[in-house]
Amino acid sequence: MKNIVILGATGSIGDSTLDIISRFPGQFRILGLTAKSRDAKLEKLIERHAPKVVALADLKAAAALKKRIGNKRVKVLAGEAGLVEVAGLAEADLVISAIVGAAGLLPTLSAIQAGKTVALANKEPLVMAGEIIQREAKLKGVSILPIDSEHSAVFQALHGERHEDIKRMILTASGGPLLRHSDIEKRKVTRKEALAHPNWKMGPKISIDSATLMNKGLEIIEARWLFDLPPDKIDVVIHPQSIIHSMVEFVDRSVIAQLGLPDMRTPISYVLHYPKRAPLDLPSLDLATVGTLTFEKPDLKAFPLLNTAYETLKSGGTLPAVLNAANEEAVAAFLNAQIGFTEIEAVIHQTLEAHSPQSADTLEAVIEADEWARMEGKRWIRHYARC
Ligand SMILES: NC(=O)c1ccc[n+]([C@@H]2O[C@H](COP(=O)([O-])OP(=O)(O)OC[C@H]3O[C@@H](n4cnc5c(N)ncnc54)[C@H](OP(=O)(O)O)[C@@H]3O)[C@@H](O)[C@H]2O)c1
Repeated sequence: MKNIVILGATGSIGDSTLDIISRFPGQFRILGLTAKSRDAKLEKLIERHAPKVVALADLKAAAALKKRIGNKRVKVLAGEAGLVEVAGLAEADLVISAIVGAAGLLPTLSAIQAGKTVALANKEPLVMAGEIIQREAKLKGVSILPIDSEHSAVFQALHGERHEDIKRMILTASGGPLLRHSDIEKRKVTRKEALAHPNWKMGPKISIDSATLMNKGLEIIEARWLFDLPPDKIDVVIHPQSIIHSMVEFVDRSVIAQLGLPDMRTPISYVLHYPKRAPLDLPSLDLATVGTLTFEKPDLKAFPLLNTAYETLKSGGTLPAVLNAANEEAVAAFLNAQIGFTEIEAVIHQTLEAHSPQSADTLEAVIEADEWARMEGKRWIRHYARC
């Protein structure tokens, strides 16, 4: 029986993880669950999965839940400290890191520092603090197993291979819902259009990141830290069908790709059962029905954030943390109807331009850069909201 903690249990990855766990009765025990503020959904999960401890980041939501259910059935913790405590629970065997955004940084680090195997969906902490996270993981001998479908594909393609035999990795990108939109069309994009991903059903932040291609930019930085490869060995190809989840080219020009229907439950099941695989009653990939797989170069003029992420990674230091924070603020402002779709790019570029990069080898430096970028990003959001 594996003891599981899910950080971000009420989200899209949380739902898929609990779906897989419920298919294998007797194999997993839910030890801890966390959320931000959706206490009613968390309460349903408590009834269904009987965790020992839960935490809500929002203090009011935690107090409301505690008032309703008391501390008898489950210990209810509150705030960031509560999340950090759940992430580091001594009995946990595997921590699923599925909070969205920078809010996952300290809980994910807490799991690593407690020596837990971490299954990582929450890419933003690696973007902000990849050097620190990998240093801590090495120090504690902790494995970080990727959940992101692209990184799961690379991880599987690298099985049994030597690091020095990798020529490059090729991350696939669907291109998102706005793949063929002109610049003028993009200026008028509504929230509904930007959220409507053609292949994946995901939370709102990653859906907007997919529409701007920033998600692929964040994934390049995530891949750099997960697989210890320089930026010039990480390529991106647009593959609108999302059947090939990513590939690795080796020095002998052999390419290994991982394929499957776009369903996050497959990479999630892989990390839950790793190093084994477990049978899943899901539809099989039928290539004859899919018919055609297509590939094209990403249009960096139409989607400049992909290139911005590359450049940010190459420059390093606190720039990726600034990129991430400015993006989080800009996406939230777009979702709140404060700015238009193309102003997401503008907020990020203005914030990056105003930053004086520092070394990102301490948590303090990363958090300071994150806080600075949020303030600067908000200043630009107010500017564009007035225009
Ligand atoms: N969804 C996918 O298919 C997919 C695929 C690959 C990678 N990922 C990555 O996985 C992560 C989660 O994505 P998602 O789509 O599952 O997001 P989501 O549906 O928005 O869920 C986010 C989860 O994080 C919690 N949360 C949000 N803000 C928080 C905060 N400030 N403090 C503590 N908890 C907070 C939410 O709690 P509440 O419900 O209470 O708000 C929820 O449980 C992201 O980093 C994303 O890039 C997702």
